[in-house]
Amino acid sequence: MALREIREQGDPVLSKVSREVTEFNGRLHQLLDDMHDTVREANGAGLAAPQVGVLRRVVIAIGDDGQFVELINPVIKLQEGEQDGPEGCLSVPGVYGMVKRPDHVTVEAVDRYGKPFTVEGHGLSARAFCHETEHLDGHLFTERVTKILTDEELAAYYGGQDSE
Ligand code: NI
Repeated sequence: MALREIREQGDPVLSKVSREVTEFNGRLHQLLDDMHDTVREANGAGLAAPQVGVLRRVVIAIGDDGQFVELINPVIKLQEGEQDGPEGCLSVPGVYGMVKRPDHVTVEAVDRYGKPFTVEGHGLSARAFCHETEHLDGHLFTERVTKILTDEELAAYYGGQDSE
């Protein structure tokens, strides 16, 4: 198990655009394995490589089945519906706010071996796929927040354990 340090808002790496992955080697697999360990330790719903200081288009995010999906070079191809709900980010600890997201997305990506696949996400998973993909273009959810939530308001939605 290897944990990586999570960069926090204000760190310049979080506002940079990440590069596409072109080599599907042991170094990529180690990064992914470490990201799984890091997101589980932090009780997050997803993590993007720039959040651990690596400017590559790599994310992991919670899928519809509750398992983490590895998305490399992800592109959101379809967005449908709308949801408005609380969102947080491991790089912005303690801050939760209301963010509108599509309720259903389809993402094209490749796996850790470079094989293309398509995955759908609904609800929390759609939210996580959007949130994490935006990290790859240097954006944080705070740019989209319509209302910051107090602890009491957040508790009314959930216990506060889900951060993307
Ligand atoms: Ni985040």
